[in-house]
Amino acid sequence: MKELKIKKIKNGTVIDHISPGNALFVLDILNEPSVGNVVSLAMNVSSEFLGKKDIVKIENRELNPKEVNKISLIAPYATINIIEEYEVVEKYKVELLPQYKDILKCPNPSCITNMKYPLGNSEPVKTIFELIKKDPLTLRCHYCERFLENDIYKYLK
Ligand code: CTP
Ligand code: ZN
Repeated sequence: MKELKIKKIKNGTVIDHISPGNALFVLDILNEPSVGNVVSLAMNVSSEFLGKKDIVKIENRELNPKEVNKISLIAPYATINIIEEYEVVEKYKVELLPQYKDILKCPNPSCITNMKYPLGNSEPVKTIFELIKKDPLTLRCHYCERFLENDIYKYLK
């Protein structure tokens, strides 16, 4: 029998197939308490192809592209389902991008992206990270070439 862990939603977005343990980081990305959408989460649910998975459901809203890009970094196998009137009307997998702009902070304190007014400019330099390897996920700062490979969620802006 298929066990129902959290109830179906009427309208909103279901982020499915999150690697187990990562739902809390996804929640962090979506968390705008001021907006007040209902969010539910299930961790360590059985899954056919992941063994176990986490699921996050957010009611009455869709995700913006920046949120989807952030999710791709911490749940690269996630599926996004758009729900309308209890039906899945759209389903897609998140994808790792060749480049992430202004999504991550560089861990190198002397990187130009961490200077408030680089070279006398009034604008800070926006970060660019290039995808180096998918598994284990490895990115590299375009400016200082520092690698990011562990605990990438900690560097989300
Ligand atoms: N879901 C939901 N509320 C709905 C419809 C679906 O919360 N009204 C959830 C389901 O519980 C599931 C996900 O959205 O976690 C995707 O639903 P569906 O496509 O019906 O499930 P599967 O076919 O198992 O999806 P996949 O093939 O992507 O694993
Ligand atoms: Zn850097």
